[in-house]
Formats: sequence, C-alpha cells, structure tokens
Amino acid sequence: MIGPGTRTAWVLGSPLGHTLSPAMHNAAYRSMGLDLVYLPARVEAGDLRVVLEGLPLLGAVGCNLTLPLKQAALGLMTRLEPPAAELGAVNTVRFEGRSRVGFNTDAQGWLRSWDEEVGQPLEGRPVLLLGAGGAARAVAWALASRRVARIQVVNRDPERARGLVNDLSRSDVPCRVGPVELEPDMVVVQATSVGMAPGDGATCLEWPESVPPGVVACDLVYRPRRTRFLREASQRGVRILGGLGMLVHQAVLTIEIFTGRRPCPALLRRQAEAALSSDRCTAPGADPGCADGC
Ligand SMILES: NC(=O)c1ccc[n+]([C@@H]2O[C@H](COP(=O)([O-])OP(=O)(O)OC[C@H]3O[C@@H](n4cnc5c(N)ncnc54)[C@H](OP(=O)(O)O)[C@@H]3O)[C@@H](O)[C@H]2O)c1
Repeated sequence: MIGPGTRTAWVLGSPLGHTLSPAMHNAAYRSMGLDLVYLPARVEAGDLRVVLEGLPLLGAVGCNLTLPLKQAALGLMTRLEPPAAELGAVNTVRFEGRSRVGFNTDAQGWLRSWDEEVGQPLEGRPVLLLGAGGAARAVAWALASRRVARIQVVNRDPERARGLVNDLSRSDVPCRVGPVELEPDMVVVQATSVGMAPGDGATCLEWPESVPPGVVACDLVYRPRRTRFLREASQRGVRILGGLGMLVHQAVLTIEIFTGRRPCPALLRRQAEAALSSDRCTAPGADPGCADGC
C-alpha cells in the first residue's frame, strides 16, 4: 500500500519506450516485502542535474539511466564505482544523503547471464564483437576481464570501432578492428540495435552455411527474444544466448545496490517474459500471438 513512508526508485531516459524494468523491480520489491515502488519518467539530458538533485529530497533510493543519460550522468556523480569510469557510462545511481554514487551493471549483468545460461569458460576464446556503442563497450570490458584470447570489433562507423579498440588497448587483451572471420570456439556478440524493431528482418551478420565448431552466438537485443541473428545461428546448430538474461541480471545487481538485498533472478525473468509476451510480432506470416519476432 503506497503511503507517506513509501520510498521510490526510478528509470529515467528519453525516449523511454516500453521499458521492462518497472515490471521486474516492482515484483521484486513486493516479494521482498519492501515499501518501495519503481517508476519510469521521461527526462532530457539538460534536465538531469536538477532531477538528480531533487529525487533524494523526495525519498528516492536511486535510479536507473538509459539513453541518452548514461554519459551525461558521469560528471554529475559524487563518486563512480568500477567499471562506470572505465566504460564512460552510468546506468545506476544510488543516493546516499546528498551524494550520488554511479555504477554500471551492464558488464557484470552480461557475465552472470553467460555463466548461468552458457556456463563455459571464456578465458582463451576468440571474440567477434559486432557494434561499438555503449552496450558493446560494456561487454568488451566484461570479456577482457575474463581474459579472452582477443577481440575483433566490427562496426558500421569504423571510426567508432577504432575508438573502442584504442580504449581496449589499456586491457591485457589484444584487440583490433575486424575482420568478420569465424573461428572454432569463437564468442560472437551482436551488440548493435539491429533486429530490435518488431518484424525487423535485418541482421548484422550473414552466417555461413557451415559454422566452425564451438561457436556461441550472443545477441544483446531482447525484444524480440529471438532475432534473425539468433534464429539463423540456431538453424546452423550454433549455441545461442539472447539478451534477456543480461537485462534480468543487471536489474538483480541494481536491486542489490538499491536495497542491499538479493532478489530472486527467476522471479525477475518471469516478469520480463510476461511483459514481453504481450508484444505483438508483426513479421510477415508470423503467428499473431508470437512474442519472439518470428
Ligand atoms: N540486454 C540488455 O540488458 C541490454 C543492455 C544494453 C543495451 N542492449 C541492447 O543493445 C543494443 C545497443 O545498445 P547501445 O546502448 O549500445 O546503443 P548505442 O550506444 O546507441 O549503439 C548502437 C550500436 O548499434 C549500431 N547500429 C545502429 N543501427 C545500425 C544499423 N542500421 N546498421 C548497423 N549498425 C547499427 C551502431 O553503429 P554506429 O556506431 O555505426 O552508429 C552502434 O554500434 C540495443 O538493441 C539495446 O537494446 C541490451
């Protein structure tokens, strides 16, 4: 029951779209018996400072940030926890009195999803990373922290790919721009927004008919759950990892940061899946009830 003692947590961004975070967070707070509600609010980058100053005065515990606020928040934090500074992006803010502590849970969220759903060692494996935006940076950082053999970055804008390769040169992992060449045991990460729109038939990679053994195909897109990239990989017998697990685990980590308690990841996943199943697939010839974009 919402009352004068109810605290709040927020997701801020612009546009916010159909965010799954309120469904996951509010279910977790209820199950943990917390007097806390999670709300979405559209906020432009120019208004972020005043919003971040005001929310703690209203009893907010923290907030999540999405595009385009993740970079804008960097200079507004009292303190940054690793790897937010390294990634140049904040996706979670915890209010501590008047202080604002910035976190980035995307990298750790992806690693937890990999460990839970794939469960294979990452150390020593070659990586092909498609994309060089914020999510690609987070996963590159995660992979470098697990000492992969090397990372090949391919991006539509080659200058941005070079920028990411340059930043990764500070890690111990060799990194270069391209080529798009598959190798045995390669981890292929689709970190662009291609394939996101319902019925979007686009893909960033045309899979060859015969894929080397041991390749794992990972897509960070979670809506639809099965992108064309994942479907075509699966059709060739390639092991696949979708983006929903990363979304769930970054939310688990955020809830730990806000409350000091660990929510049930399975509960969050069920909530996210239920929210996604209300999506309508508009792909040509698709089952109208399909939530997987196929
Ligand atoms: N599962 C999760 O928890 C999670 C978390 C974060 C993000 N994501 C997903 O990851 C994706 C990327 O997010 P982001 O935050 O990295 O966004 P971003 O910083 O805006 O980067 C977008 C990336 O997509 C590329 N791109 C966009 N349109 C393209 C096109 N038509 N053809 C080729 N490349 C294209 C961009 O290439 P250019 O540099 O050439 O523009 C860039 O590499 C989104 O789908 C997002 O939903 C998922």
